Amino acid sequence: MVRKTRPTPPDWVKPEDHIVLDGVTKSFGTTEVLKGLDLRFKRHATAVIIGGSGAGKTTLLRLLIGLDLPTSGHIWVNGEDIAALGEVDMNRVRQNFGMVFQYAALLDSLNVFENVAFPLREHRKHMTARQLDEKVRGMLATLGLSGKERHMPSELSGGQRKRVGLARALMLEPEILVYDEPTSGLDPETSRMVDDLIDETRERFNVTSVVISHDMASCFRIAHRAYLLIHGRVVAEGTPEELAFGENAVARDFIAKSGVDPTRLKRIVEA
Ligand SMILES: Nc1ncnc2c1ncn2[C@@H]1O[C@H](COP(=O)(O)OP(=O)(O)O)[C@@H](O)[C@H]1O
Ligand SMILES: [Mg+2]
Repeated sequence: MVRKTRPTPPDWVKPEDHIVLDGVTKSFGTTEVLKGLDLRFKRHATAVIIGGSGAGKTTLLRLLIGLDLPTSGHIWVNGEDIAALGEVDMNRVRQNFGMVFQYAALLDSLNVFENVAFPLREHRKHMTARQLDEKVRGMLATLGLSGKERHMPSELSGGQRKRVGLARALMLEPEILVYDEPTSGLDPETSRMVDDLIDETRERFNVTSVVISHDMASCFRIAHRAYLLIHGRVVAEGTPEELAFGENAVARDFIAKSGVDPTRLKRIVEA
């Protein structure tokens, strides 16, 4: 049997680097959507990728969680190049990631309990009914959703739906949580609650968070490090303050145009 040799990461990939992108490009046909990304996401920190629509955020997210492969470059997750994996190994690596979808993406025909139980029914077939019940109820209690088990998604508020989506994403105990536009479509107060929830979840479950967002206010509150993606290139990175008040005119301009006044926002994380 011919074995493909597993590439090993270059020595500048450090143990504290949970995810490293090295020269990642992605093309669809002749259109290059991601034009050479070099990114490092630190373990147990929150990385926020901001950028306008069409910048390539969703494309990047799909590469991160192994739903699609880069055209060139490496994506090191825990020192393993997921861009070089076959389907079996990729399925194993995908379970490192919990995904919180835009608008929560709950299954409308299933109640809260069944939405949250879904990943366990798919991937933990050895669990007994009782173990499953305990795990789902425990998570719902942790996220303040006790008593909502039999509710249908349509009966929940926007903030509750987010929490159900998060509970579902946490079921397989992922190391990395990826959020796609977590605050989009929410009112400012609920958005702040979701920001708090993202940071509390990172602490409580010891995860690394990657957040795709165009919400600058949210970025300011939760990002340890922010990355500005424009037309498939990261044109600036740093703490949100560094982007807002630093040397990079493109970043300053992007933030100014967002209409968010960074001097009026309170961070909930230490950079
Ligand atoms: N499967 C695909 N086939 C062809 N073009 C695509 C595909 N997915 C995305 N694109 C193009 O890539 C660009 C970036 O898209 P996307 O990653 O969705 O941006 P964003 O999420 O930042 O709005 C867009 O011009 C989009 O039309
Ligand atoms: Mg998108």
